[in-house]
Amino acid sequence: MTTRRTFTMIKPDAVENGHIGAILEKINAAGFKIVAMKYTQMSKRDAETFYAIHKERPFFGELVEFMTRGPIVAAILEKDNAVEDFRALIGATNPAEAAEGTIRKLFATSLGENAVHGSDSDENAAIEGAFHFAGREIF
Ligand code: RTP
Ligand code: MG
Repeated sequence: MTTRRTFTMIKPDAVENGHIGAILEKINAAGFKIVAMKYTQMSKRDAETFYAIHKERPFFGELVEFMTRGPIVAAILEKDNAVEDFRALIGATNPAEAAEGTIRKLFATSLGENAVHGSDSDENAAIEGAFHFAGREIF
């Protein structure tokens, strides 16, 4: 069964570079409805928990350092086929390999600092949304 929701973060690099508005506009234009949203900063513990799946990877320390260095915008998005369509909208992890017009192609800085997060499965979308939002913050 597929759900209609995915989870995203506008990462610290994109916030620092002033791209929040432009990224939200791309998200709206692609037909996603924002059902939850907040401007927040993750603690080291938050980032280590959120990205626990990557803890054995060589870039883990760098990733945690990056994701905690400034505020992020966290959001839950709704649309048919949300997870897959949002991954297509953001483009490849490495912006050098991302398709023209994708959010990462337009706004990412590097492989590590790639502007946005997008859940990779319905299961992870639910886990990640619940990590950042209480039930009363989801509409
Ligand atoms: P995300 O989870 O943030 O949506 O990104 P993704 O699925 O496209 O990529 P993933 O493999 O899950 O990696 C998570 C994040 O770790 C950073 N990364 N750095 N320096 C490196 O080699 C490297 N590789 C990955 C990126 O910020 C990536 O989005
Ligand atoms: Mg991922």
